[in-house]
Amino acid sequence: MLKIRSSEITPEHIYLSRRKFMIGIGSAAVGALALAACDGMPGAPAASAAEPVELATAKLPDLPAVLNHSEPTAGATTDELGDGLNTFEQITHYNNYYEFSVDKESVAPLSQGFNTLPWNIEVTGLVNQPKTFAFEDILKQFTQEERIYRLRCVEAWSMVIPWVGFSVGDLLKQVEPKAEAKYVQFTSVMRPEEMPGQSGRSFIEWPYVEGLRIDEAMNPLATFATGMYGKPLEPANGAPFRLVTPWKYGFKSIKGIVKIELTDTMPESTWMKAAPNEYGFYANVNPEVNHPRWSQATERRIGELGRRDTLKFNGYEEEVASLYAGMDLRENF
Ligand code: MTE
Repeated sequence: MLKIRSSEITPEHIYLSRRKFMIGIGSAAVGALALAACDGMPGAPAASAAEPVELATAKLPDLPAVLNHSEPTAGATTDELGDGLNTFEQITHYNNYYEFSVDKESVAPLSQGFNTLPWNIEVTGLVNQPKTFAFEDILKQFTQEERIYRLRCVEAWSMVIPWVGFSVGDLLKQVEPKAEAKYVQFTSVMRPEEMPGQSGRSFIEWPYVEGLRIDEAMNPLATFATGMYGKPLEPANGAPFRLVTPWKYGFKSIKGIVKIELTDTMPESTWMKAAPNEYGFYANVNPEVNHPRWSQATERRIGELGRRDTLKFNGYEEEVASLYAGMDLRENF
């Protein structure tokens, strides 16, 4: 009997929320990147009323003209559940990117001039074809498509975001993971001279590191984002290249990636190191497992009054639940 793994099937509603378009390379001036993380951390530095830092303006390869408008490419205004998209302004001015600031509203001004070119992404470790990709080549080699996903932060707020990107698995297949490769570790850029949060005292060990099990990384929902609302990513959202794992808490969606390493041991992520009793490796959105310091049963959708119920796996249960068959999601939080 023909067996198709569930990760190879794209359910129709997800399929319909994606729109493919080829990315060409042009040239246009664009800024750079930034983000933030989890407030209320023990020992978290007080939010700084950050002064914008003057940085050289970078040039980023343009997404094609078809993407350069402030509406989602195909005119979609909701996700597959019918929830409205958050605005470009909300998505780019309420950010977690601790390399710049722990204050969500300071990330955009602090990251404005961050240099996103040249940008290389090294893919290494347990692979047969290790490779360093220049960001421009990523835009050329992988078909970029719009993917509208909910982002649910562990802090219990959420947004609906029209990303532009492609599946993590497409890139991993190019480097041919070895049979022993069981995990994928992602590392963010280390640039204290441009990222004020990396130069002061911090409870975070830099660079920011995240990880996925390889089958999670190969799930079609795991996305490398290069754009948002049809434009290149803003520095505040992780330009030029970040991960988006919509069924997991937002801290797994690591920004400003410069290195991807295939390993046989479970990576220890930044938040696991910072507070192991609060943040686990899996970090799947789960309304039944509370954070030790707050409930995860409900969330605040940015731009809405009141709260809404949090959905298991952030509403992507059909696509990802099989990855965790037989696992105790309370123990493996
Ligand atoms: N990646 C890096 N490198 N540094 C960070 O501080 N914060 C994470 C994640 N990726 C973070 C990061 C957290 S806590 C969240 S909720 C999301 O980015 C926020 O993404 P957004 O600002 O694009 O909404």
